[in-house]
Amino acid sequence: MSDMMQAVTSRTYGGPEVMKFEQIARPVPNAEQVLIKIAATSVNPYDWHFLRGKPFFIRLAASGLMKPKNAVLGADVSGTVEAVGANVTLFKVGDEVFGDVGAGTFAQYTVADPSKLALKPVKVSHIDAGVVGIAGLTALQALRDWAEVKAGQKVLINGASGGVGTYAVQIAKAYGAEVTGVCSTQNVALVRGLGADHVIDYKKEDFTDNGQTYDVIIDLAANRSIADTKRAMAPMSRWVLVGFNLKNMLMGGLFGRWLFSDSGKAFVLKVAEVVPDDLTILAEMLASGQIRSVIDRTYPLKDTPIAIEYIETMRAKGKVAIEVS
Ligand SMILES: NC(=O)c1ccc[n+]([C@@H]2O[C@H](COP(=O)([O-])OP(=O)(O)OC[C@H]3O[C@@H](n4cnc5c(N)ncnc54)[C@H](OP(=O)(O)O)[C@@H]3O)[C@@H](O)[C@H]2O)c1
Repeated sequence: MSDMMQAVTSRTYGGPEVMKFEQIARPVPNAEQVLIKIAATSVNPYDWHFLRGKPFFIRLAASGLMKPKNAVLGADVSGTVEAVGANVTLFKVGDEVFGDVGAGTFAQYTVADPSKLALKPVKVSHIDAGVVGIAGLTALQALRDWAEVKAGQKVLINGASGGVGTYAVQIAKAYGAEVTGVCSTQNVALVRGLGADHVIDYKKEDFTDNGQTYDVIIDLAANRSIADTKRAMAPMSRWVLVGFNLKNMLMGGLFGRWLFSDSGKAFVLKVAEVVPDDLTILAEMLASGQIRSVIDRTYPLKDTPIAIEYIETMRAKGKVAIEVS
């Protein structure tokens, strides 16, 4: 095996134009890591935040102050274990795995901590598994853990046609919720096809001003004010803010307890974590057909910058995949 590989690198902060398709050294796993030959990955808003180093605080928290800490971005992955470190017992060479490894997947190979991976069911394609990581984990944890959704509850998904939203609609239905998806006119049929009981076309109707209220709002679009969103919240309901809105994050985070205390309403702000058991739950749901990955577009590895440019438009219908091999 050559010790070089093809990868899409970003060595300075900037837009997709700073990314280069080039040959770099293949990573070598340490004793605790596995080496994965990548079959598929996907692009997430996470990637362009890390590409641009915006908002600035992510440079301090994770991505590197002056230049990107990781020259190869990309977090989602599906592929085959090519080598294992001396202390790895969870996986063996030849296992097909998928997950969210944080960085390094816009490449032919990546090294990963086994705790960020799960076995890919044979029935699930590399593309379908390679796009589920961040988006699927976020949808699952937002509904099950942050919102504590129960059967029969009225759940509204604002941003139902995007990467997280398409999984969230299906998982909420699987939990027995009465689901309302909010999207633009062109995506109404898609969201209905995913099983949403009601679809609100935000170009024609304002979900915060139509007299309806919900037990749970999973907010991916994050485009409404606190006052507007509260109008759509039923007593004892939860607004789970998943999408990025600095003002609402600060106000809700600092003053949420007071702002939402009327009628037992609650504001929830969290970041998804990679939990192997949750990856396995998603794999089982994909394998059984309970959920499916909605693939909007698939690009070859060299076109990763174009895929990022597309995801930055915030118009993706489901997931944008990168097919590596
Ligand atoms: N907290 C966490 O752990 C976490 C994890 C993952 C993602 N996120 C954040 O969650 C957000 C969503 O992520 P994603 O991967 O789903 O993004 P995405 O795939 O880029 O979302 C694109 C979708 O957003 C919809 N959209 C845009 N404007 C809208 C509006 N005004 N109302 C309703 N829908 C609208 C678009 O639908 P139309 O074309 O129909 O408008 C499109 O389908 C992002 O801000 C991301 O950074 C947070």
